[in-house]
Amino acid sequence: MKNVNPTQTKAWQQLQLHYETIKSTHLKTLFEDENRAKTFTIDWQDFLVDYSKNRISEETRTLLLQLAEEVGLAEAIDSYFGGDAINATEGRAVMHTALRDYGDNAFAKAEVSQVKSSIQQFTDRIINGEHKGATGKKITDVVNIGIGGSDLGPVMVVEALQYYKNHLNTHFISNVDGDHVMEIIKDLDPETTLFVIVSKTFTTQETLSNATTVREWFVNALGEKAIGSHFVAVSTNLEAIQNFGIASENVFPMWNWVGGRFSLWSSVGLSIALAVGYDHFEALLKGAHEMDVHFKQAPFDNNIPVITALLSVWYNNFFGAESEAVIPYTQYLHRLPAYLQQAIMESNGKSVDRNGNLIDYETGNIIWGEPGTNSQHAFFQLIHQGTKLIPADFIGFKKSLYGNTDHHDKLMANFFAQTEALMNGKTIDEVVRELSKNGVSQKDIEQLSPFKVFSGNKPTTTILIDKLTPASLGALIAMYEHKIFVQGVIWNIYSYDQWGVELGKQLAKQVLTDFNDLENAHHDGSTQQLLTLYKKS
Ligand code: F6P
Repeated sequence: MKNVNPTQTKAWQQLQLHYETIKSTHLKTLFEDENRAKTFTIDWQDFLVDYSKNRISEETRTLLLQLAEEVGLAEAIDSYFGGDAINATEGRAVMHTALRDYGDNAFAKAEVSQVKSSIQQFTDRIINGEHKGATGKKITDVVNIGIGGSDLGPVMVVEALQYYKNHLNTHFISNVDGDHVMEIIKDLDPETTLFVIVSKTFTTQETLSNATTVREWFVNALGEKAIGSHFVAVSTNLEAIQNFGIASENVFPMWNWVGGRFSLWSSVGLSIALAVGYDHFEALLKGAHEMDVHFKQAPFDNNIPVITALLSVWYNNFFGAESEAVIPYTQYLHRLPAYLQQAIMESNGKSVDRNGNLIDYETGNIIWGEPGTNSQHAFFQLIHQGTKLIPADFIGFKKSLYGNTDHHDKLMANFFAQTEALMNGKTIDEVVRELSKNGVSQKDIEQLSPFKVFSGNKPTTTILIDKLTPASLGALIAMYEHKIFVQGVIWNIYSYDQWGVELGKQLAKQVLTDFNDLENAHHDGSTQQLLTLYKKS
């Protein structure tokens, strides 16, 4: 990796000047070029990415691509896929892409294939009922116990692929909130439930507490000996799993070169494979691999992760946009924004560069979103008429899964209409014309019209995919993974560590100990007061 301060590149300086010339140009003006839609669309397999409704010209794109070149993006991609320790602060390679590489020369091919085949055998046996619980009954329910990357990816994918699900009921316990655990286990039958404990480190407080509580509940019902048929674990920490009481044959390993938030492709995806069957799990992996190949091979000006990342940099660093919305027009993807929050914000929320210097430019964007059309009736008001610039990804599918055209046309009409409305807005003249046409009095028109104006010029990227399948979902997730990588390269930060989550964890441990002796605890006045009140209650 080149470790270049992006703001010191020629391209950055030019982009700054260029920004001054384009910042006030309305998208409507840019669309006077009748070829614009074609010029700014990438057509790849079953994806069509139309980024023409972004506040860019061909010159913007050229300069952004020049920025990618100056920071050494091509070499960085080689290092990423080549297994270099690009997660330098943890001394690790970042090789989640190897988990979905079926090529002969794939990294760690033998280990990966072996683990995949044990996932396949295990999931087949659970799904077809060959594996029985301790009392001889078939498994009906699967509970994934994990947090962060050991929860968000699996839960997002299981929800997204609900249409492809089998008879197993899948549940997720993540929060250390004991009420959450009780709400999940209260209706479960221990005789027919499989618990999958997922923790890369097997040191995470939330997961260990939840697993211990569930284990106690289970042992009370069926006894210690029954654990072997009902508990499996996914981790790199085999010793800790054994100490927890799970036998080595019930462990699905993973590796340090797979980051938690990029781990759904590994054994961490066990609950996905259980929920939808191994073939669909493999299709998910293969779809992601297709996107990996596209990312590695497509020229940058026709490369979906590269272009979408550059757009993000453009808004973040030149327009000063602080957040980005992700709006999937399918209820199936309702957990995608939450999943992306960890993937993107834990990766690129950094303020020290790869040379160890404090950064004086903006990095990680804030990600948020909800499915459309629900989000239209919630926060779209702010995107349309608020004071903030919020670039948004609109993700939609040409076909619905159950084939209800009437509903799908309505859903997609909204999908297309919103991006058009965000772009064009509505001028005061249009408002006045519309109100007079509707017979509104002149006085009321004067009073009302300013509130009904939409400035427009709100950027969106439309990601239109044929159909929500395991493969297209895999490609979509991989697209965002690589987008994260490209942004990290440009911002000259380490995207694959997460030191920022440590301080809170450390303090929480301290507070837990202090609960026993608050008088001798050392906290600021506010915290001390709150702890005392809490303990008195
Ligand atoms: O939130 C910090 C983090 O380390 C994430 O990166 C990770 O996904 C999560 O905790 C869970 O970690 P583990 O899988 O080791 O329990």
